[in-house]
Amino acid sequence: MKLATKFIHAGVEPDPSTGAIMTPIYQTSTYVQAAPGNNKGYEYARSQNPTRFALEKAMAEIENGKFGLVFSSGVAATDAVIKLLQPGDEVIAANDMYGGTYRLFTKVFEKFGIVFKYVNMQDLRNIQPLINKNTKLIWAETPTNPLMNIIDIAAVADLSKQCNALLCVDNTFASPYLQNPLDLGADIVMHSATKYLGGHSDVIQGSLVLNDAALRDQLYFIQKSCGAVPGPQDCFLVLRGIKTLHIRMQRHCENGEKIAHFLRNHSRVGKVYWPGFEDHPNHAIAKKQMRGFGGMISFELKDDSTEEAKRVLSATKVFALAESLGGVESLINHPATMTHASIPREERIKNGLSDSLIRLSVGIEDVDDLIDDLKQAIG
Ligand SMILES: Cc1ncc(COP(=O)(O)O)c(C=O)c1O
Repeated sequence: MKLATKFIHAGVEPDPSTGAIMTPIYQTSTYVQAAPGNNKGYEYARSQNPTRFALEKAMAEIENGKFGLVFSSGVAATDAVIKLLQPGDEVIAANDMYGGTYRLFTKVFEKFGIVFKYVNMQDLRNIQPLINKNTKLIWAETPTNPLMNIIDIAAVADLSKQCNALLCVDNTFASPYLQNPLDLGADIVMHSATKYLGGHSDVIQGSLVLNDAALRDQLYFIQKSCGAVPGPQDCFLVLRGIKTLHIRMQRHCENGEKIAHFLRNHSRVGKVYWPGFEDHPNHAIAKKQMRGFGGMISFELKDDSTEEAKRVLSATKVFALAESLGGVESLINHPATMTHASIPREERIKNGLSDSLIRLSVGIEDVDDLIDDLKQAIG
């Protein structure tokens, strides 16, 4: 099936009891059994829920995988992947990724003896020296949040196979419309479904998609044992979001492109981070592994101060100042004090995340209104 048809029909069948075309929200915690052990395949909703199962099937289909698992948030999905590991196991992770992932790794899992090594993954030669017999997982995010760096998924997948480590790719920024990491050799694809998949800023959710049945069983065991499952209403919202993912993403990409060029030509704007520019250092890889360049853009101000950034951030009227991304409405964010505040300043600056860096999640409003709003705010 072509993408548009797949997004609309993935995972959903008319409800067997009524024929309802939309998957019902099975708002129940338990299921009545005819006799002990005699049930309809559903015992308790932490382990099984039909609305959740429909979404898990949809996720697998749209990421070209065999199995999907959904969680109560993106970080809960990441948490489940790290719980596959034992003390002493090592993870190689990108040094430029979502601050909450970094916080989970450093503040929660390091104390259980998991070792994390951070590296600039755009240059593969940086990864090789960190690999040893304890390397069990490579964690990549591409495009990265917020610097829009691109990691070559197929090349990192080759490395992970050589050392028998799993490769998990956080595909949140691209969404399955723009990129499918499993097709490029990744073992697990992770999403904060809160973002483009939900698409309307009304749900917190995460998901994993994979092909290996034994790995799926291990992750399902973690999902039901640790209990970070989403409620059926939230699963319904993401199922509904997926149906329009392709048309939303098309507009995010169109608006993103126009705004990236507008910013680049603005006299008060410094560097603009957007992988669609031909001189972006990883443009060729982005072109190879993505179907478009998305609506996420970061930029620095020529006056690289927190004060100047705050002035711009407080002046927009259409772009709402808020964390998160991927919704139909445009958002503006200050990574240094908001999404990435958990990364110490020294570490942040070292990784290229400056004080004035501003991140835009370009929505699907009329692009002229968005440009006018930025014009008046930047001044
Ligand atoms: C790239 C990326 N990964 C993971 C997450 C975490 O997802 P959630 O907020 O749904 O837990 C986020 C949230 O901003 C994100 O941007």
